[in-house]
Amino acid sequence: MRLERVAAHVPAGARLADIGSDHAYLPVALMRRGQICAAVAGEVALTPFHAAQRTVTENDLQTRISVRLADGLAAIKSQDAITAITLCGMGGETIRDIFESGKSHLSGHERLILQPNGGEQPLRQWLMDNGYGIVCEEVLHENRFDYEIIVAERAAEPLTYSAKELFFGPLHLQLRSPAFLQKWQRKLRQRQKTLHHLARAQQALPREKVQALNQEVHWIRELLA
Ligand SMILES: C[S@@+](CC[C@H](N)C(=O)[O-])C[C@H]1O[C@@H](n2cnc3c(N)ncnc32)[C@H](O)[C@@H]1O
Repeated sequence: MRLERVAAHVPAGARLADIGSDHAYLPVALMRRGQICAAVAGEVALTPFHAAQRTVTENDLQTRISVRLADGLAAIKSQDAITAITLCGMGGETIRDIFESGKSHLSGHERLILQPNGGEQPLRQWLMDNGYGIVCEEVLHENRFDYEIIVAERAAEPLTYSAKELFFGPLHLQLRSPAFLQKWQRKLRQRQKTLHHLARAQQALPREKVQALNQEVHWIRELLA
């Protein structure tokens, strides 16, 4: 379901780069459905790289999907003329670092479809700082986890998101979908538990950490009020 929702945001006829592709399930599924024209599956680690090669070969898609052993966006060559990039199943900070160190491989015309596992706030911050606007956001709950999908495109004008928008997601705050509100009900309970344990802990904790947690709890309460 998670990758299905990511797939739904890949434009028809895209030239896709799936970075951190693991078994290359996403580009292979999209190619088999005729949804994309060409794809690069990038992997930094040997075992998933070989798994991706195997999936592509088994589906006889070697001429349409290039599997490359590369760190982050280094898998992308300018002649690939990539129009969409998917980066899924990694922490938001990792996704941000991959974009930051691979900036020179971006043309600015690609749609970015990102599925971070946590760390959404620093990722949104990077998108804003680098001239991207968030065009779609989704939350989905699967196997006891909340997954976020963030779709971004280079904006014509610089955009400024508030601290709260960077934390919750600017479109989520407008739309307030049931899945989004349920996610934050769960997060509120977790943070309240953490604060309770912190209060009972023997050793002193960094004040900024407690302050940040209290600020988040305050925002979440306001959101759910
Ligand atoms: C948890 S898997 C997610 C696989 C798939 N994208 C998904 O969402 O199901 C993360 C994959 O990203 C790869 N990865 C991590 N850092 C990477 C980087 N800098 N460049 C390319 N691949 C990376 C890992 O080797 C791993 O196969």
